[in-house]
Amino acid sequence: MRLTFTIQRFNPEVDSTPHPQEIRLDVGRGMTVLDALIRIKNECDGSVALRYSCRSAICGSCAMTINGSEKLACRTSLRKELERHGHIAVAPLRNLPVIKDLVVDMTSFWGKIHDVHPWLVPAVRPSPTHARGHANPQFHNVDACIMCGACVAACTVHEVSKGFVGPAALAKADRFLSDPRESPSATRARLSMLQDEHGIWDCTRCNFCVEVCPKDVKPMEAIIRLRRASLEQGLTQAGGARHILGFTELIEHQGRLNEAIMPLKVVGFAPRALLHILPLGMKMLRKGKIPNPFGHAFPGLSHIRALIQRIRRATPQA
Ligand code: SF4
Ligand code: SF4
Ligand code: FES
Repeated sequence: MRLTFTIQRFNPEVDSTPHPQEIRLDVGRGMTVLDALIRIKNECDGSVALRYSCRSAICGSCAMTINGSEKLACRTSLRKELERHGHIAVAPLRNLPVIKDLVVDMTSFWGKIHDVHPWLVPAVRPSPTHARGHANPQFHNVDACIMCGACVAACTVHEVSKGFVGPAALAKADRFLSDPRESPSATRARLSMLQDEHGIWDCTRCNFCVEVCPKDVKPMEAIIRLRRASLEQGLTQAGGARHILGFTELIEHQGRLNEAIMPLKVVGFAPRALLHILPLGMKMLRKGKIPNPFGHAFPGLSHIRALIQRIRRATPQA
């Protein structure tokens, strides 16, 4: 079968912007997108730049955008892509600087992994469970990450805020959270670091990192575990933490969200921060979106409170 491939080309030495190139190739049964790209490079146009190594979904180096989604080219079937989209279009990973064609610069990716201190800091005295040899750490599959960068490319926060630590680095940080050999002070130091701007509270839980991860790492769930652990450790100063606590408090006391009080719960009585959100508050007031702060409690409040208490008993950190 003869197929047309659209490859996004960009050579910084001669191009000012990326441009598509169409290349036709005879393909056989069972081929992957990577197989086809290697043949295009070898048989049609040797100047196409791409990165790969293991060809077995292990090294993570062939991640790219295939028909609009982040995928490993070596485990993406040509036939399935064709059935689903009717064509094959490949481009580099989004939101990372392009070096050439399908090759992106992963420097910022590795920098962020390094920033979360991805190494074990052993406790001077191991926890009793570990010392007895009964340690059964729950790594939640985060150690399956192959550092392909697909999640970072798909991340909606990273798209608008390049400083965001990002899903891959946060999944890596979560891996040490569950390790009983880690020193509690190192865990706390890592969690404290992640409270800063661009840390765990910046994630909007869009779930894209979970959808694209080829190894089922589920970075968003790792971020939720890091948030829970932070609250457990009393790290509640970040806006995101205050938002969660304020939200729960309001629901528990009034049975509903109260937008008139919520800003005070999140930013406190900080005049400058309150001034910053004043225009939004005025707009909400005009649209009738701010309820009476002293309004009646929601009917059925006792049921809501009972529910919250039940959740608290089931998950002590909630
Ligand atoms: S869930 Fe969070 S980390 Fe994952 S892609 Fe969305 S914003 Fe990024
Ligand atoms: S979490 Fe998944 S998508 Fe992100 S770098 Fe690791 S393997 Fe790739
Ligand atoms: S070539 Fe190694 S993951 Fe695709």
